[in-house]
Amino acid sequence: MTDLPRIPLAGVIGHPVAHSRSPALHGFWLRRYGLKGHYVPLDIAPADFESALRMLPRMGFVGVNVTLPHKENLLRIADIVTDRAALIGAANTVIFRKDGKIHADNTDGLGFIANLRQNAPDWRPAEGPAAVLGAGGAARAVVAALLEVGVPEVRIANRTRLRAEAFRKDFGARVVVHDWTQAGAMLEGAATVINTTSLGMTGKADFTVPLDALQRGALATDIVYTPLKTQFLIEAEERGARVVDGLGMLLHQAVPGFERWFGHKPVVDDETRRVVLSA
Ligand code: ATR
Repeated sequence: MTDLPRIPLAGVIGHPVAHSRSPALHGFWLRRYGLKGHYVPLDIAPADFESALRMLPRMGFVGVNVTLPHKENLLRIADIVTDRAALIGAANTVIFRKDGKIHADNTDGLGFIANLRQNAPDWRPAEGPAAVLGAGGAARAVVAALLEVGVPEVRIANRTRLRAEAFRKDFGARVVVHDWTQAGAMLEGAATVINTTSLGMTGKADFTVPLDALQRGALATDIVYTPLKTQFLIEAEERGARVVDGLGMLLHQAVPGFERWFGHKPVVDDETRRVVLSA
Protein backbone atom coordinates (compact mmCIF):
# COMPACT_ATOMS: atom_id res chain seq x y z
CA MET A 1 0.00 0.00 0.00
CA THR A 2 1.30 3.48 -0.80
CA ASP A 3 1.65 5.92 2.02
CA LEU A 4 -0.68 8.82 1.25
CA PRO A 5 0.15 12.13 2.95
CA ARG A 6 -2.06 12.77 5.95
CA ILE A 7 -4.59 15.54 5.67
CA PRO A 8 -3.78 18.08 8.41
CA LEU A 9 -6.41 18.46 11.11
CA ALA A 10 -6.83 21.38 13.49
CA GLY A 11 -9.62 22.67 15.69
CA VAL A 12 -10.70 24.67 18.69
CA ILE A 13 -10.98 23.14 22.14
CA GLY A 14 -13.50 24.82 24.46
CA HIS A 15 -16.23 24.01 26.90
CA PRO A 16 -18.72 24.99 25.62
CA VAL A 17 -17.50 25.53 22.07
CA ALA A 18 -20.63 25.68 19.91
CA HIS A 19 -20.59 29.50 19.86
CA SER A 20 -17.01 29.67 18.54
CA ARG A 21 -16.58 31.41 15.19
CA SER A 22 -13.17 29.84 14.62
CA PRO A 23 -14.44 26.83 12.61
CA ALA A 24 -16.22 29.18 10.18
CA LEU A 25 -13.11 31.36 9.91
CA HIS A 26 -10.58 28.58 9.32
CA GLY A 27 -13.01 26.68 7.09
CA PHE A 28 -13.39 29.75 4.90
CA TRP A 29 -9.62 30.22 4.59
CA LEU A 30 -9.10 26.54 3.75
CA ARG A 31 -11.63 26.84 0.91
CA ARG A 32 -10.35 30.23 -0.23
CA TYR A 33 -6.77 29.00 -0.62
CA GLY A 34 -7.74 25.53 -1.90
CA LEU A 35 -5.83 23.81 0.92
CA LYS A 36 -6.31 20.30 2.16
CA GLY A 37 -7.26 20.23 5.83
CA HIS A 38 -10.10 20.36 8.31
CA TYR A 39 -10.81 22.55 11.34
CA VAL A 40 -13.36 21.28 13.85
CA PRO A 41 -14.94 22.36 17.15
CA LEU A 42 -13.94 20.09 20.06
CA ASP A 43 -16.07 20.31 23.19
CA ILE A 44 -13.84 18.89 25.93
CA ALA A 45 -14.49 19.14 29.68
CA PRO A 46 -11.66 20.37 31.93
CA ALA A 47 -11.13 16.89 33.45
CA ASP A 48 -10.43 15.46 29.96
CA PHE A 49 -8.41 18.36 28.61
CA GLU A 50 -4.91 17.01 29.18
CA SER A 51 -5.58 13.48 27.92
CA ALA A 52 -7.42 14.83 24.86
CA LEU A 53 -4.58 17.22 24.09
CA ARG A 54 -2.04 14.39 24.23
CA MET A 55 -4.22 12.15 22.05
CA LEU A 56 -4.90 14.65 19.26
CA PRO A 57 -1.49 14.50 17.51
CA ARG A 58 -1.82 10.72 17.27
CA MET A 59 -5.09 11.28 15.44
CA GLY A 60 -3.54 13.53 12.80
CA PHE A 61 -3.96 16.92 14.44
CA VAL A 62 -1.20 19.43 13.69
CA GLY A 63 -2.43 21.95 16.24
CA VAL A 64 -5.39 23.52 17.98
CA ASN A 65 -6.74 26.75 19.30
CA VAL A 66 -7.68 26.66 22.94
CA THR A 67 -10.38 28.82 24.46
CA LEU A 68 -12.32 29.08 27.75
CA PRO A 69 -11.95 27.49 30.24
CA HIS A 70 -8.64 25.89 29.22
CA LYS A 71 -6.36 28.82 28.36
CA GLU A 72 -4.50 28.92 31.68
CA ASN A 73 -4.43 25.15 32.12
CA LEU A 74 -2.69 24.80 28.76
CA LEU A 75 0.37 26.60 30.16
CA ARG A 76 0.82 23.91 32.79
CA ILE A 77 0.59 21.08 30.27
CA ALA A 78 2.63 22.47 27.36
CA ASP A 79 6.28 21.42 26.98
CA ILE A 80 7.27 24.71 25.38
CA VAL A 81 5.62 28.03 26.27
CA THR A 82 6.52 31.25 24.46
CA ASP A 83 7.69 34.19 26.58
CA ARG A 84 4.63 36.24 25.74
CA ALA A 85 2.25 33.42 26.71
CA ALA A 86 4.09 33.02 30.01
CA LEU A 87 3.87 36.77 30.68
CA ILE A 88 0.18 36.85 29.82
CA GLY A 89 -0.48 33.71 31.86
CA ALA A 90 -2.58 32.03 29.18
CA ALA A 91 -2.17 30.51 25.71
CA ASN A 92 -4.56 30.14 22.78
CA THR A 93 -2.56 28.49 20.00
CA VAL A 94 -0.95 25.05 20.09
CA ILE A 95 1.45 23.46 17.65
CA PHE A 96 1.98 19.71 17.92
CA ARG A 97 5.64 19.44 16.96
CA LYS A 98 7.07 16.54 15.02
CA ASP A 99 9.26 15.61 18.03
CA GLY A 100 6.09 15.11 20.10
CA LYS A 101 6.41 18.32 22.10
CA ILE A 102 3.38 20.53 22.74
CA HIS A 103 4.19 24.16 21.88
CA ALA A 104 1.87 26.85 23.29
CA ASP A 105 1.70 30.51 22.26
CA ASN A 106 -0.61 33.44 22.87
CA THR A 107 -1.57 35.35 19.71
CA ASP A 108 -4.28 37.57 21.24
CA GLY A 109 -1.92 40.53 21.59
CA LEU A 110 -0.74 40.19 17.99
CA GLY A 111 -4.37 40.07 16.91
CA PHE A 112 -5.18 43.15 18.93
CA ILE A 113 -2.35 45.20 17.41
CA ALA A 114 -2.85 43.90 13.85
CA ASN A 115 -6.52 44.92 14.03
CA LEU A 116 -5.60 48.48 15.00
CA ARG A 117 -2.84 48.71 12.38
CA GLN A 118 -5.21 47.52 9.66
CA ASN A 119 -8.19 49.68 10.59
CA ALA A 120 -6.44 52.79 11.93
CA PRO A 121 -3.20 52.89 9.90
CA ASP A 122 -2.27 56.34 11.21
CA TRP A 123 -2.38 55.15 14.85
CA ARG A 124 0.90 55.89 16.62
CA PRO A 125 1.04 53.97 19.92
CA ALA A 126 3.95 56.07 21.22
CA GLU A 127 1.91 59.28 20.84
CA GLY A 128 0.45 59.17 24.33
CA PRO A 129 -0.87 57.11 27.24
CA ALA A 130 -3.29 54.25 26.74
CA ALA A 131 -6.27 53.77 29.06
CA VAL A 132 -7.46 50.22 29.62
CA LEU A 133 -10.85 49.51 31.16
CA GLY A 134 -10.86 46.11 32.86
CA ALA A 135 -8.15 43.78 34.12
CA GLY A 136 -9.40 40.29 33.19
CA GLY A 137 -7.72 37.63 31.09
CA ALA A 138 -8.12 39.46 27.80
CA ALA A 139 -6.68 42.66 29.28
CA ARG A 140 -3.39 40.91 30.04
CA ALA A 141 -2.79 40.22 26.34
CA VAL A 142 -3.81 43.77 25.44
CA VAL A 143 -1.52 45.40 28.01
CA ALA A 144 1.44 43.19 27.10
CA ALA A 145 0.97 44.11 23.44
CA LEU A 146 0.59 47.84 24.11
CA LEU A 147 3.82 47.91 26.11
CA GLU A 148 5.61 45.95 23.41
CA VAL A 149 4.67 48.43 20.67
CA GLY A 150 5.92 51.37 22.74
CA VAL A 151 2.97 52.94 24.54
CA PRO A 152 4.64 55.29 27.08
CA GLU A 153 2.10 54.65 29.87
CA VAL A 154 -0.76 52.23 30.42
CA ARG A 155 -3.47 53.46 32.75
CA ILE A 156 -5.72 50.71 34.03
CA ALA A 157 -8.91 50.65 36.08
CA ASN A 158 -10.88 47.63 37.15
CA ARG A 159 -13.96 47.08 39.31
CA THR A 160 -11.85 44.73 41.46
CA ARG A 161 -8.85 46.96 42.08
CA LEU A 162 -6.60 44.12 43.22
CA ARG A 163 -6.62 42.58 39.74
CA ALA A 164 -5.38 45.88 38.27
CA GLU A 165 -2.67 46.09 40.96
CA ALA A 166 -1.39 42.71 39.79
CA PHE A 167 -0.78 44.25 36.33
CA ARG A 168 1.61 46.78 37.81
CA LYS A 169 3.47 44.01 39.57
CA ASP A 170 3.63 41.82 36.46
CA PHE A 171 4.14 44.42 33.74
CA GLY A 172 6.16 47.09 35.54
CA ALA A 173 6.24 50.80 36.21
CA ARG A 174 4.74 51.95 32.91
CA VAL A 175 1.43 50.62 34.29
CA VAL A 176 -0.48 53.10 36.47
CA VAL A 177 -3.51 51.88 38.41
CA HIS A 178 -6.60 54.07 38.75
CA ASP A 179 -9.66 53.47 40.84
CA TRP A 180 -12.70 52.09 38.98
CA THR A 181 -14.74 55.08 40.20
CA GLN A 182 -12.18 57.28 38.40
CA ALA A 183 -12.23 55.30 35.13
CA GLY A 184 -13.85 58.24 33.28
CA ALA A 185 -11.27 60.74 34.55
CA MET A 186 -8.45 58.39 33.51
CA LEU A 187 -9.35 59.00 29.85
CA GLU A 188 -8.10 62.60 30.00
CA GLY A 189 -5.21 62.94 27.56
CA ALA A 190 -5.24 59.24 26.62
CA ALA A 191 -4.35 58.65 22.96
CA THR A 192 -5.71 55.09 22.96
CA VAL A 193 -8.68 53.79 24.95
CA ILE A 194 -9.61 50.13 25.15
CA ASN A 195 -12.63 48.46 26.74
CA THR A 196 -11.69 44.95 27.83
CA THR A 197 -14.61 44.52 30.24
CA SER A 198 -17.72 42.58 29.33
CA LEU A 199 -19.77 45.76 29.78
CA GLY A 200 -21.87 46.39 26.67
CA MET A 201 -21.72 42.79 25.48
CA THR A 202 -25.06 41.32 24.42
CA GLY A 203 -26.69 39.90 27.56
CA LYS A 204 -24.28 41.63 29.98
CA ALA A 205 -24.50 44.85 32.00
CA ASP A 206 -24.54 48.19 30.16
CA PHE A 207 -21.40 50.21 29.61
CA THR A 208 -21.69 53.17 31.97
CA VAL A 209 -18.20 54.69 32.21
CA PRO A 210 -18.57 58.44 31.48
CA LEU A 211 -16.66 59.48 28.36
CA ASP A 212 -16.68 63.26 28.88
CA ALA A 213 -12.89 63.32 29.25
CA LEU A 214 -12.26 61.32 26.05
CA GLN A 215 -10.07 63.37 23.77
CA ARG A 216 -11.14 64.11 20.17
CA GLY A 217 -9.02 62.10 17.75
CA ALA A 218 -8.17 59.45 20.35
CA LEU A 219 -8.36 55.87 19.14
CA ALA A 220 -11.11 53.87 20.85
CA THR A 221 -11.47 50.13 20.53
CA ASP A 222 -13.49 47.41 22.21
CA ILE A 223 -12.61 43.75 22.46
CA VAL A 224 -16.33 42.95 22.61
CA TYR A 225 -17.72 42.25 19.12
CA THR A 226 -21.27 41.21 19.95
CA PRO A 227 -22.71 43.70 19.12
CA LEU A 228 -20.17 44.87 16.57
CA LYS A 229 -20.78 48.52 17.40
CA THR A 230 -20.90 48.59 21.20
CA GLN A 231 -22.35 51.40 23.27
CA PHE A 232 -18.77 52.42 24.12
CA LEU A 233 -17.83 52.72 20.43
CA ILE A 234 -21.03 54.59 19.53
CA GLU A 235 -20.47 57.16 22.29
CA ALA A 236 -16.75 57.43 21.59
CA GLU A 237 -17.44 58.14 17.93
CA GLU A 238 -20.01 60.81 18.86
CA ARG A 239 -17.25 62.48 20.87
CA GLY A 240 -14.90 62.60 17.90
CA ALA A 241 -12.78 59.50 18.58
CA ARG A 242 -11.65 57.15 15.81
CA VAL A 243 -13.16 53.77 16.52
CA VAL A 244 -12.16 50.19 15.64
CA ASP A 245 -14.45 47.29 16.53
CA GLY A 246 -13.26 44.08 18.15
CA LEU A 247 -14.01 41.57 15.41
CA GLY A 248 -10.65 42.13 13.74
CA MET A 249 -8.82 41.01 16.89
CA LEU A 250 -10.53 37.63 16.65
CA LEU A 251 -9.70 37.36 12.95
CA HIS A 252 -6.06 38.42 13.27
CA GLN A 253 -5.28 36.24 16.30
CA ALA A 254 -6.11 33.25 14.10
CA VAL A 255 -3.52 34.06 11.42
CA PRO A 256 -0.33 32.61 13.02
CA GLY A 257 -2.00 29.27 13.86
CA PHE A 258 -3.50 28.85 10.40
CA GLU A 259 -0.17 29.66 8.75
CA ARG A 260 1.75 27.14 10.86
CA TRP A 261 -0.79 24.32 10.54
CA PHE A 262 -1.80 24.67 6.89
CA GLY A 263 1.25 26.38 5.37
CA HIS A 264 -0.30 29.53 3.96
CA LYS A 265 -0.58 32.98 5.56
CA PRO A 266 -4.25 33.99 5.28
CA VAL A 267 -5.40 37.54 4.59
CA VAL A 268 -7.98 39.24 6.79
CA ASP A 269 -10.28 41.34 4.61
CA ASP A 270 -13.92 42.43 4.28
CA GLU A 271 -14.99 39.09 2.89
CA THR A 272 -13.43 37.32 5.90
CA ARG A 273 -15.41 39.62 8.18
CA ARG A 274 -18.65 38.95 6.32
CA VAL A 275 -18.19 35.18 6.42
CA VAL A 276 -17.50 35.15 10.16
CA LEU A 277 -20.34 37.55 10.93
CA SER A 278 -22.85 35.43 9.05
CA ALA A 279 -21.63 32.18 10.66
P1 ATR B 1 -11.90 38.02 30.04
O1 ATR B 1 -10.94 36.89 30.20
O2 ATR B 1 -12.75 37.92 28.81
O3 ATR B 1 -11.24 39.36 30.15
P2 ATR B 1 -12.82 38.09 32.78
O4 ATR B 1 -11.48 37.66 33.24
O5 ATR B 1 -14.02 37.53 33.42
O6 ATR B 1 -12.97 37.84 31.23
O7 ATR B 1 -12.89 39.68 32.87
C1 ATR B 1 -14.03 40.40 32.64
C2 ATR B 1 -13.74 41.88 32.92
O8 ATR B 1 -14.98 42.61 32.92
C3 ATR B 1 -13.11 42.11 34.29
O9 ATR B 1 -12.27 43.23 34.20
C4 ATR B 1 -14.35 42.40 35.15
O10 ATR B 1 -14.09 43.10 36.33
P3 ATR B 1 -13.76 42.29 37.69
O11 ATR B 1 -12.33 41.90 37.60
O12 ATR B 1 -14.02 43.25 38.78
O13 ATR B 1 -14.70 41.10 37.71
C5 ATR B 1 -15.14 43.25 34.19
N1 ATR B 1 -16.55 43.31 34.54
C6 ATR B 1 -17.48 42.35 34.40
N2 ATR B 1 -18.69 42.79 34.83
C7 ATR B 1 -18.51 44.07 35.29
C8 ATR B 1 -19.38 45.07 35.86
N3 ATR B 1 -20.69 44.85 36.05
N4 ATR B 1 -18.83 46.26 36.18
C9 ATR B 1 -17.52 46.51 35.99
N5 ATR B 1 -16.65 45.60 35.45
C10 ATR B 1 -17.14 44.42 35.11
